[in-house]
Amino acid sequence: MLELKAGPRTLRRTLDDFDDRPYERFDVQPLSPTIGAAVRGVDLGSVDDEVLAELRRARLEWKVLFFRDQAIDAADHRAFASRWGELEVHPFLPSADAPDVIRFAKDEKIGGYENVWHSDVTWRQVPSMGSILRAVTVPRLGGDTLWCDMGAAYDGLDDETKDRIDGLTAVHDFVHTFGRLLSDEEKARKREEFPPAEHPIVRVIPETGRKVLYVNRPFTSHISGMQPEESSTLLELLVRQADVPEYQCRFHWEPGSVAFWDNRTTQHYAVSDYHPQVRVMERVTIIGDRPVGPAAASATALAGV
Ligand SMILES: [Fe+2]
Repeated sequence: MLELKAGPRTLRRTLDDFDDRPYERFDVQPLSPTIGAAVRGVDLGSVDDEVLAELRRARLEWKVLFFRDQAIDAADHRAFASRWGELEVHPFLPSADAPDVIRFAKDEKIGGYENVWHSDVTWRQVPSMGSILRAVTVPRLGGDTLWCDMGAAYDGLDDETKDRIDGLTAVHDFVHTFGRLLSDEEKARKREEFPPAEHPIVRVIPETGRKVLYVNRPFTSHISGMQPEESSTLLELLVRQADVPEYQCRFHWEPGSVAFWDNRTTQHYAVSDYHPQVRVMERVTIIGDRPVGPAAASATALAGV
């Protein structure tokens, strides 16, 4: 069983075969050894195909990209997000100018509630690939967001735990979080629309072949086919890996700041330390792919698909 012990952690940002040519169209400044990089020299209001291709590579390398001083509005934000794929409409969160633009508005009445490590919408059969979050109004101090590299978290597990979880799946469910805001009738209706989703605990990212730990505290209810006590003990151990600072980066928001994270390979935590100050953010989310585990990923690779 995995023990959490002090000492050096050996971190890998990418696998050895990652395409690590230098970026030519912008400057990249890392925030930590494996996760988070500030991109300088890009206007998100006008991105050509070559910049888009380099951003894609940078996002795979750094998992979350940060942009400062972006003079873009909700329409520009949405237009940039649309370049990456189909946009997601969240069934439980309030929208702004368009159904696929989520508005997170916190004031003295509504405190921040995303201060738990999680990956977005893992209770969907097809969870999102990534999200682009734009700061509209930020507190003078506080309100940072942290991200955790779940590939590094996987790598940090001992071999016994890796072997144990390699072929396991876990169930993800919205009922313990968003479900609490609904009436029983509404919850039953949403449950039909969004039944519990079963995903591999070890997810393989198709573009990179990287294995990531794919369970999170608010949405993962239990491990499939395991007795409740064994499931909760193992799950607790796995979700706690996001707590390790060596796998994390932290970003301080300014007006016009934008973060673009890969929701498959990371978890995030919005620090709720600014109450009762106001914090308004807008998020546009890109629909992803169905998670695959190591066995399915290697079968696909063997078939050359
Ligand atoms: Fe989130």
